[in-house]
Amino acid sequence: MVSKKYLVYMAHSNVNFRRAELESLADLCGLDIDFSTYDEESPFFVVDLPDDAQASRWIRRSVLCKALYEYWGEGKNLQELHESIKSQPFHEHYKQLYRQDSFKFQFETYRGSTRANRVEQIETFAYLGLQGKIDMKRPDQIYTIVEEYRPLAENVGSTIPERMFFGRLVQRSDRHAMEVYDLKKRPYKGTTSFEAELSLVSANIAQVKPGSLMYDPFAGTGSFLSAGGHYGALVLGSDIDGKMIRGRGAAYDISSNFKYYGESVQFIDVLTMDFTHNSIRSNLKFDTILCDPPYGIREGIKVLGADNLEKYVGKEDVELYGKKSFLHRDYIPAKKSYSLDNLLDNLLQYASERLTIGGRLAFWMPTANDENVETMIPLHFCLELKYNCVQEFNKWSRRLLVYENRGPDFNGQDNTGTKRAVSNFRERYFTNFNR
Ligand SMILES: C[S@@+](CC[C@H](N)C(=O)[O-])C[C@H]1O[C@@H](n2cnc3c(N)ncnc32)[C@H](O)[C@@H]1O
Repeated sequence: MVSKKYLVYMAHSNVNFRRAELESLADLCGLDIDFSTYDEESPFFVVDLPDDAQASRWIRRSVLCKALYEYWGEGKNLQELHESIKSQPFHEHYKQLYRQDSFKFQFETYRGSTRANRVEQIETFAYLGLQGKIDMKRPDQIYTIVEEYRPLAENVGSTIPERMFFGRLVQRSDRHAMEVYDLKKRPYKGTTSFEAELSLVSANIAQVKPGSLMYDPFAGTGSFLSAGGHYGALVLGSDIDGKMIRGRGAAYDISSNFKYYGESVQFIDVLTMDFTHNSIRSNLKFDTILCDPPYGIREGIKVLGADNLEKYVGKEDVELYGKKSFLHRDYIPAKKSYSLDNLLDNLLQYASERLTIGGRLAFWMPTANDENVETMIPLHFCLELKYNCVQEFNKWSRRLLVYENRGPDFNGQDNTGTKRAVSNFRERYFTNFNR
């Protein structure tokens, strides 16, 4: 296969999720990428790809990347950079290809900044022989010098880069979507709303596809529905708490967000429904299930039912204004406590039955760091665990678990029915983590 060298420049953010996002998007584009030189610590990844069109398709959706460049060379300083550029086998070819195009130069800096005169630096590239017009607004080509600095100490930046790359911009990423979906600007949000960056990243790792069907069974204020809609899925949600999805009598609800983003066409609806008493017809298949299940942090986990059933016996037929009370719109059914272990077992089982083969289940799960106990990841024999990406906080962490439905023949490891949580997460959140 003929290929070209490209430079992927990543954001220094949610580092533990970067590779999972890149791999998932590559897989979505049918690209077979060699990650053997990928370095978890570095924001740079030099990689061979077939051509610009395929490279663009790969990075266009990424949130944790900043941009992708056609690779022209690299060095420890400007002089080494020039030597590297001139020594590349593709150097003369590239020079000819873009010689007449309008262009501009730009700089990107990672963890530092220089006092060097940028105009003088640009002039050192005269040997490229660019003959097109300089166009700062809409150039045909943007040549970029990406500099990496090593901070001298914590909060003390360096002014001398330790590495420089030079490349031609091929594709900017979708990182600007973080601004668009920023919770501060969102019309309808609540205390459970999930931040924009990681909800978009979750949708990428869950491989939400345009025109596919995505379901969030714990929709809350609809953060993941918005992220799924952004990547073109038709999205359906449900939540046990009708007030959440109706917007607590306020002027805004989940559908207002879709209108605000100009994506109403992606939004199917949200249903008030207990996930464990799921009423979605069983032959409807989803391509993706993406959610943030209740952890019982703010309130205990509840499902329909009653802890003290005897209290309700014989009351099913109570009538109010000539109608069975449970048929009234404002009827609030009794609920009983439920464990996170059981809820996650239900979620994995549901995903194994309702996801298309190859479809992904992605959900967030909290874990405590305060005890030295290994976290037991829920496993189901039909689901292949693809990613377990951890986001660390001070005394607790949460992880995004991503599974692919491989069907019953997969015969994977299964720990359904096991007590995984060592002790109640809610209790520990309030007593231990906040001190
Ligand atoms: C962590 S929040 C999800 C927040 C959501 N991602 C958002 O953007 O607001 C969990 C949600 O699950 C809902 N929930 C709790 N138990 C449920 C159940 N048994 N069935 C369906 N939803 C449930 C809660 O009402 C809550 O809105």
